[in-house]
Amino acid sequence: DTDIIGDLTNVLYTPEDIAERIAELGAKIDADYADKGLVLVGVLNGAVMVMADLSRALRSHCTMDWMAISSYGSGTQSSGVVRILKDLNTDISGKHVLVVEDIIDTGLTLSYLISNLQSRDPASLRIMTMFRKPEAARNAVDVAYVGFDIPNEFVVGYGLDFDGRYRNLRSVGTLAPHIYS
Ligand code: PRP
Ligand code: MN
Ligand code: MG
Repeated sequence: DTDIIGDLTNVLYTPEDIAERIAELGAKIDADYADKGLVLVGVLNGAVMVMADLSRALRSHCTMDWMAISSYGSGTQSSGVVRILKDLNTDISGKHVLVVEDIIDTGLTLSYLISNLQSRDPASLRIMTMFRKPEAARNAVDVAYVGFDIPNEFVVGYGLDFDGRYRNLRSVGTLAPHIYS
């Protein structure tokens, strides 16, 4: 069996669960930003799926820009070192910015990113993440919109990878330990 969903020990969220939650968050974000002209900042690579879906769940205008930041490399544990691999193409000063993430695990990536973006004087700066792990609570990352709080397991799918793979899985689930150990 080469179907990659077979590498999961259990499915946490189906494509339908994800679509339903994205629609709810999209409606909230629409209401909160109204005609402000939102800039969505996606964090490459993991946020590509949530960016594609969240942006299309909005009924109001938005623009999209991207940063590439990596703290995990190819392992399953955060290296503790945040690197900017690609900066924004646009100036966000005076703009209403919403950072879009697939997951907050330790909060290291976002606490670094938020202080970096705040120094560029946006009109406002908030975070949306599709998934959040318990450990994130220990760091001072103030998240405005959360899709789902999830258990502290190694999860993949919907942008979340192991060694670059599994991002294209439509479901999100726990990776079988024999795959990464
Ligand atoms: C993952 C994920 C978040 C970050 C969360 O990115 O997409 O950006 O880790 O972890 P943290 O809260 O502990 O910092 P990763 O560094 O694996 O790069 P990727 O998005 O290219 O997979
Ligand atoms: Mn990421
Ligand atoms: Mg990753």
